[in-house]
Amino acid sequence: GEGSLWGARFASGPSPELARLSRSIHFDWQLAGYDLAGSSAHAKALASAGYLSDDELERMLAAIVQLAESVVDGSFEARDDEEDVHAALERGLIELTGPELGGKLRAGRSRNDQIATLVRLYLLDHAAAIGHLVVQLIDAIASQAENHIDAVMPGRTHLQHAQPVLLAHHLLAHAWPLVRDLERLRDWRMRASTSPYGSGALAGSSLGLDPVLVARELGLSGPTENSIDATASRDNVAEFAFIAAQIGVDISRLAEEIILWNTREFDFVKLDDAFSTGSSIMPQKKNPDIAELARGKSGRLIGNLTGLLATLKGLPLAYNRDLQEDKEPVFDSVETLEVLLPAFTGMVATLRFNTDRMRELAPQGFSLATDVADWLVRQHIPFREAHEVSGSLVRFCEEHDLELHEPTDEQYLAVSPHLTAGVRDVLTVDGSIASRDGAGGTAPVRVAEQLAALTARVRAL
Ligand code: ARG
Repeated sequence: GEGSLWGARFASGPSPELARLSRSIHFDWQLAGYDLAGSSAHAKALASAGYLSDDELERMLAAIVQLAESVVDGSFEARDDEEDVHAALERGLIELTGPELGGKLRAGRSRNDQIATLVRLYLLDHAAAIGHLVVQLIDAIASQAENHIDAVMPGRTHLQHAQPVLLAHHLLAHAWPLVRDLERLRDWRMRASTSPYGSGALAGSSLGLDPVLVARELGLSGPTENSIDATASRDNVAEFAFIAAQIGVDISRLAEEIILWNTREFDFVKLDDAFSTGSSIMPQKKNPDIAELARGKSGRLIGNLTGLLATLKGLPLAYNRDLQEDKEPVFDSVETLEVLLPAFTGMVATLRFNTDRMRELAPQGFSLATDVADWLVRQHIPFREAHEVSGSLVRFCEEHDLELHEPTDEQYLAVSPHLTAGVRDVLTVDGSIASRDGAGGTAPVRVAEQLAALTARVRAL
């Protein structure tokens, strides 16, 4: 029963209330494969230090393989009275090897160094999976940019029309944060892929086991430097939860725009039927539920991060049982992204842009006023004065219900003697966009370079 891992010192088994509180099987069972990988690495370390004979090692490894298969096919399950994945698998191993051999495996390790290692192994695998999903989303955004390389739209600040931009430029502005998230995952991986195995409960092992061997067996870069830190720290878990939250936030900002673009008022995009939902009462509705769920789930991802940080904040060294609370939030972040990203990518890949509508709106709201000011600067008018002149022109046009290119020559000159007819040359959306050819600008040549650079950066990861 429960006492199987520590029975001797206790006169009675745990109360049912304690057992119910303490139990972690319902979430740590998914670490079973990693637990067994740790066990097989540990068995090799025990053998190489002389604690298992060649024959014992062989039987032990065979039993671990067999147990792993039974876990996968569901024929081996934890018992209701077992606390955690470690206890259940030790019992399973002993059933296969007999207590004589199976009882040897726990030497020189603790559930504390085990769990610290297993959660890293789990996160490293899922980080790779999430990384692939993020690459697919970046590819979907980049394809939309490439397929609409000539399309323009009103660029906004404060949600107000500001300056016209290429749609591709705007879309890629959503892709770059995701590229940085991939780079964050790569950087995190470097820090997360050390092995706490061999740290024991906190003070290290006295059995002369080789932690380098264990790390290598587990595909980790090497052992951790400090056994107390190794068993007590979860910053690698929190950092992963941060990256997951940041991915959620980056997706949420695009989601919010898609939700706006999909309104009748904007009418910039149409969602594919397969990636939108209807209403049970209003037959005309086509709702952006994927984008809304993305926006909503980003809140949940942030909550997982802040909950985890709050758990860690006051903990004295070394291991405390509070640390068991690291897993549910970070597992939830993983599962959330693994479900969300494919749906979100599908929605983005199938978006249809109403580029006529976007082009029509691009010059409206006097979004070419900066181009007037810049044109004046090229006539060597100080920018301060140029801004004034351009502002006066906006005011004049607003009062007369005209767009910036529509006043007569006389009207321009009445606004300012500097405003000659030549200003009309820059008062086109395409002229404005082409003129912004500085580094990272929206000019078609820069955006084409940017697209190539983005692709290269992702492929280099
Ligand atoms: N279930 C624990 C956790 O998730 C690991 C076991 C360590 N438990 C203990 N009482 N030392 O952190």
